[in-house]
Amino acid sequence: MTTALITGSTAGIGAAFARRLAADGHDLVLVARDTARLREQATELHDRHGIEAEVLTADLAQDAGIEAVAARLGDRRSPVDLLINNAGFANRGRYLDVPMADELRMVKVHIEAVLRLTSAASEAMRERGRGGIVNVASVAAFVPRGTYGASKAWVVQFTQGAAQVLAGTGVRLMALAPGLVRTEFHERAGMGTDNIPGWMWLDADKLVAAALADLARGKTLSIPDPRYKALMGLAKMAPRALVGGITSRTGRRYGPR
Ligand SMILES: NC(=O)c1ccc[n+]([C@@H]2O[C@H](COP(=O)([O-])OP(=O)(O)OC[C@H]3O[C@@H](n4cnc5c(N)ncnc54)[C@H](OP(=O)(O)O)[C@@H]3O)[C@@H](O)[C@H]2O)c1
Repeated sequence: MTTALITGSTAGIGAAFARRLAADGHDLVLVARDTARLREQATELHDRHGIEAEVLTADLAQDAGIEAVAARLGDRRSPVDLLINNAGFANRGRYLDVPMADELRMVKVHIEAVLRLTSAASEAMRERGRGGIVNVASVAAFVPRGTYGASKAWVVQFTQGAAQVLAGTGVRLMALAPGLVRTEFHERAGMGTDNIPGWMWLDADKLVAAALADLARGKTLSIPDPRYKALMGLAKMAPRALVGGITSRTGRRYGPR
């Protein structure tokens, strides 16, 4: 029996990882801020799949929350075999409209927490000679899109660099860069999504299936879905200023209400 720890497990992409990994027979450590919702999820997954699901309430925007999850990942008596660093959010508004405290909270959750949790897990996994880590980034990592895109670009670069360092140790690291997925993410950030064409939306369960297949293949970057692979290929070839202009207009159109 193996154990997976998922941050931001209660909604959206994290919940899809929890469903899939429980169905595959993994025990789970579920991490988010809302304890009641975590308990309900743990009970449901235990009852449906017969797995053990631990609840770990932690705010990854706080040192205490990061430390509690790092300590769980470092617990040699109860090892974690797979870490999914998934918790994340968008802020309301564009650069300079967003209060500095919110920008810093994003840096803490998207960068500092990912760095500290990846490191805690990597050390324990390297000792055992096996393990996997998926750090959820975004296709926003590849286009100029404020602190959100920059923080996700850090996730991609950091994860691929760490994967090189850990090559040959039995520990696999992969950055996952989803396109748009229907979750609570946009509503939480007050973003209107009515104008987004249907073809741009990905299904969270299919995304997770593709991501786990890419991890098993040893990829260090997963961009599930051919539509987004093609878009990212175009974005790489186009001049940076053009891509910045298009994404910033799209951001205004689909951005905060
Ligand atoms: N949806 C998309 O279109 C999309 C696209 C690309 C990338 N992503 C990335 O995918 C990841 C998951 O997003 P999602 O769309 O699934 O979002 P979501 O539906 O809003 O779920 C976010 C999850 O993270 C938890 N969370 C938020 N802030 C937290 C904090 N400070 N500490 C601990 N847990 C926290 C939430 O639970 P609590 O509120 O209870 O803490 C919830 O379980 C994020 O990293 C996001 O950037 C999303």
